[in-house]
Amino acid sequence: MEKYPVILGIESSCDETAAAVVKNGRQVLSNVISSQVPVHTIFGGVVPEIASRKHIEAIDGVIKKALADAGMTFDDIDAIAVTYGPGLVGALLVGLSEAKALAYALNKPLLGVHHLKGHIAANYITDPDWEPPFLCLVVSGGHTHIIMVDDYRHYHILGHTRDDAAGEAFDKVARAIGLGYPGGPKIQKAAENGNPDAIHFPRPCLDEEGYNFSFSGLKSAVLNYLNTEKMQGHTVSQADVAASFQAAVVEVLVTKTMQAAVDHHVKRVAVAGGVSANKALRQSLEAACKKHGFEFCRPEIILCTDNAAMIASAAYYEYDKGEQSELSLNADPNLTL
Ligand code: KG4
Ligand code: ZN
Repeated sequence: MEKYPVILGIESSCDETAAAVVKNGRQVLSNVISSQVPVHTIFGGVVPEIASRKHIEAIDGVIKKALADAGMTFDDIDAIAVTYGPGLVGALLVGLSEAKALAYALNKPLLGVHHLKGHIAANYITDPDWEPPFLCLVVSGGHTHIIMVDDYRHYHILGHTRDDAAGEAFDKVARAIGLGYPGGPKIQKAAENGNPDAIHFPRPCLDEEGYNFSFSGLKSAVLNYLNTEKMQGHTVSQADVAASFQAAVVEVLVTKTMQAAVDHHVKRVAVAGGVSANKALRQSLEAACKKHGFEFCRPEIILCTDNAAMIASAAYYEYDKGEQSELSLNADPNLTL
């Protein structure tokens, strides 16, 4: 009987401590995520030093649970995959040190994974038939990229944000209108009761060539609007601001992605990263893809935000080619694609 590779994935690049067991790159046997959101909420955002400490406290238990949920022991694991960048350096080091210790002690291959390649691989888990080449919009708290996925291991960036990432803009606007952290899901919820046409916020970069983004001007436009309304003694509708801001972000992301897809003659378009959990973005991308005749894939919600199943999946395609990382692998907070 053929033995399919089983990979233990570990992720600790930001504020989720996660471990997962994935068979054959696509079949998730367990997916454990320990979120630090309640801790960081008190401070209105992720505090790096606290994140590292919380990862240390959680990681052993999270890995044990991932193995137990999969009904496996370390003996059943063929390789250890771990995010080694980009992300918060102290946070990355916790997962990476754990993975290196396990790989050494168990004498199993170590596979360092780029966090964004992990996000993209979430699509392989959600749709077992999804395969490259495709164009992927990667939208997270730290990144906003349009990436051409040439094959499982080769990517090139067509466009990226020049300043804030889309998720960062969601988080900053949420804080400004008093919704708190994490901003994305809270803006989405508030927007459900708001009018997306109530306030016309700018659509940065839309009348510009190329596939780059810029979200800091949009964030400033929201802050200016809030200040002006306050000075004039008007009450601001949180729901209308949320809905109008979300509509502006979604329009820019979708328009640029479609432009890149048309220009590069692709047949398939995917989305990934924490912001890809956004309902308005998913719906708008799906409708635009349908209009242009592109196949569309988006990860299931639990695989949009940080998790380790996506890391194990991305590592599978390296493992499959006989690749492995040195035990001297270091964390790289600014790792490029
Ligand atoms: O991918 P992720 O979990 O972590 C990073 O790699 O950065 O993304 C987190 C980001 C946060 O900025 C969060 O506000 C945003 O994803 N996010 C959302 C939604 N859920 C999470 N943004 C918009 N709508 C959502 N439903
Ligand atoms: Zn992420």
